[in-house]
Amino acid sequence: MDNSLPLESPSLSRRQLLNFITGAAVAATAGAALYPAGKFFIPRAETGAGGAILAKDVLGNPIPASQILGELPLTRALVAGLAGEPTYLIVKEDGTLDSIGIVDNCTHLGCTFPWNPMDQQFQCPCHGSRYAPDGTVVRGPAPLPLKIVQVVAIDNSILISPWTENDPRTGEKPWWV
Ligand code: FES
Repeated sequence: MDNSLPLESPSLSRRQLLNFITGAAVAATAGAALYPAGKFFIPRAETGAGGAILAKDVLGNPIPASQILGELPLTRALVAGLAGEPTYLIVKEDGTLDSIGIVDNCTHLGCTFPWNPMDQQFQCPCHGSRYAPDGTVVRGPAPLPLKIVQVVAIDNSILISPWTENDPRTGEKPWWV
């Protein structure tokens, strides 16, 4: 499945993103409400060291690594990440999963945005910010690079955890830490 959203159909892109965010918000809200009872039924494997969580789909179901790795190289696949944040997972050219995920939250005013495979950029529809494939700002008004997370595939699961080390794009402490 190619989750990249072509710019030729901006209304469809926005609708798909809105649907995803709504689904993620509902799943997060339901999860919070059911936590006291549900914590007894949630397998320990859902969380890991360093605050890692399983990558999930819009309905809150864990996504098998094989599903993402079955995509074409250079695919950006949108999943629910930490705290339900929409997060792009990247299939590298060699078919493996990139250890860095990109959080789909524009650093200008928080819009979500599609990946434009033609331009090889994340392009925010709200005020025109553009980001390189690694999330660095190509064009403002976005003031900061996109937040990144750590991604690892273990067995057939995908774990996402907070990025707390220096930002590899700047060599400095991340702005979100
Ligand atoms: S919210 Fe993305 S450019 Fe303004």
